[in-house]
Amino acid sequence: MTQPLRIAIAGLGTVGIGVIKMIRQNAALIEARTGRTVEITGISARSRDKDRGISLSGYNWEDNPVTLATRDDVDVFVELMGGSDGPAKAATEAALAAGKDVVTANKAMLALHGQPLAEQAEAAGQVLRFEAAVAGGIPVVKALTEGLAGNEITRVVGVMNGTCNYILTRMEATGQGYNVLFDECAQLGYLEADPNLDVGGIDAGHKLAILASIAFGTQVDFDAMELEGIQRITLEDIAQAADMGYKIKLLGVAQLTGRGLEQRMSPCLVPNTSPLGQLDGGTNMVVLEGNHVGQIVLRGAGAGEGPTASAVMSDIIDIARGTRLSTFGQPATSLTSATPARAVTPAPYYLRMKLMDKPGALAKVAAILGDCGVSIDRMRQYDHDDEAAPVLIVTHKTTRADIDAALAAFATTDVVHGAPVTLRIEEL
Ligand code: NAP
Ligand code: HSE
Repeated sequence: MTQPLRIAIAGLGTVGIGVIKMIRQNAALIEARTGRTVEITGISARSRDKDRGISLSGYNWEDNPVTLATRDDVDVFVELMGGSDGPAKAATEAALAAGKDVVTANKAMLALHGQPLAEQAEAAGQVLRFEAAVAGGIPVVKALTEGLAGNEITRVVGVMNGTCNYILTRMEATGQGYNVLFDECAQLGYLEADPNLDVGGIDAGHKLAILASIAFGTQVDFDAMELEGIQRITLEDIAQAADMGYKIKLLGVAQLTGRGLEQRMSPCLVPNTSPLGQLDGGTNMVVLEGNHVGQIVLRGAGAGEGPTASAVMSDIIDIARGTRLSTFGQPATSLTSATPARAVTPAPYYLRMKLMDKPGALAKVAAILGDCGVSIDRMRQYDHDDEAAPVLIVTHKTTRADIDAALAAFATTDVVHGAPVTLRIEEL
C-alpha cells in the first residue's frame, strides 16, 4: 500500500481548522481519489489552550512552527498562519530547506517573496503550492497553471476582495455610508487583522500580482502595482453611478502590452447588467482571457472556512497524487522581469464634479475636455441647493494621460470646485 502523506499544519484559525475538519470528514473520499491517506502528524499555533471548537488532542503539538516544519515525520508543511514575513516565511524557508513540500494560503508572503521562495523550492526539488491564496475557494491558480496552460493569456480581471465587495454592494442596497459598513464588517469578523489590507486594496493587489506572474510568465512584482482602495467612495458616487447604469467595484486588471506589464487594483465602474456588475456581497469573480479559449468567468466564495480549506486541500491532494508543478507554472528561473507600465489602454471614464451654476461654466468644462482630446459620451446635471451643481460626465474611450491633462486644466478654472472624482469604466 502507498505510504500515507504526512502533513503538519501551522495556524489553527479559520483556515487551519477548516482543513482539519475536511480531512476528517472526507477521509475516505480523499483516499479513494489519491490512493493514500492524508495523516496530520503535527500542529502549531500561538496558544495551545485556545478552544478551537474541535478536539486536537490526537496531534503532536509544537510551539515553534519552524520546529514543526522540519520534523522528520512530515512530508508537507501547511502554512496557515499568515503575515508576509515573520514565522510564516521563516517556517516556509525552513520546510523547503529540510526537503518538505509546502502548501500555503498566504497571499501577502507570495506577493512579496514569491520569487525567492519559488527559486528555493525548485532548486531543492520541492513544490510550493498556494491555490487558497487567490480568491479563496475559486480554483483560479489551477485554471491558469493547468486548464489554460496552452493559451497566451491576454488579460486577467477580477473582484478579489470579498470585504470590499460586501461594503460596496451594501452601501448601494442599504444607503448606509462607508464608515457604518466598515464597522459592520469588523463586527462580522470580515476584516483582515490590518483592515487597510482590505479597504486599501492591498490584499486584492497581492492576489492580482500572483495571478499576473502565472498568466504572463513574469516575476511577481507587487510593488509595481497601481493601487487605490475604496475609502473615498461615497454614497453619492454609488447612487449617481447607478443612475448612469453602472456599479462601482474594486477591480483588478493585469495585462502585458508592448509597453510592459500593467497591473492596477482600483475602484472602477462596470455596467450594472454585466456579470461583474451583478456580483453581490462577499463573492469573488475572476475573468481570464486566453488567445484560443476566449473568455472564462470564475465565480465563487473568496473567503471563509470551507471554501478556503477546499483550495488548500486541492494542493494537498495534488501532492498526494504525485503532481509536481513549478510554483508559478514555469520554472522560477525562467520568469522574466517585466517593465512596469502605467495603464495606457484607452477606456471610457466617469467624472463627477461640482460645477459653478453660472453662464458659461459647462461650456468651459466641455472646451477643456475637447482641447485635451476627450470626447463626451453622456452628461447629466443634478438638482442642487447651493451655487455648485453636481455634474456627471461619461466620456468616450480615452487615455488616462488625456484625462489627467483635463483634470489639471479644470484646476486652473474658477468654475470647477475641488478635484473631480475620476473612475475608469471597464466594459467586460
Ligand atoms: P486566523 O484565523 O487569524 O488564524 C491564524 C492562525 O495562525 C491562528 O491559529 C494563530 O494562532 C496562528 N498564528 C499566528 N501567528 C502565529 C505565530 N507567530 N506562531 C504560531 N502560530 C501563529 O487566520 P486565517 O483566516 O485562518 O488565515 C490564515 C491564512 O490564510 C492567512 O495567510 C490568510 O491570508 C489566508 N487566507 C484566509 C482566508 C480566510 O477566509 N480566512 C481566505 C484566503 C486566504 P492562535 O489561534 O493561537 O492565535
Ligand atoms: N480579506 C479577504 C477578503 C479574505 O475579504 O476577500 C480572503 O482573502
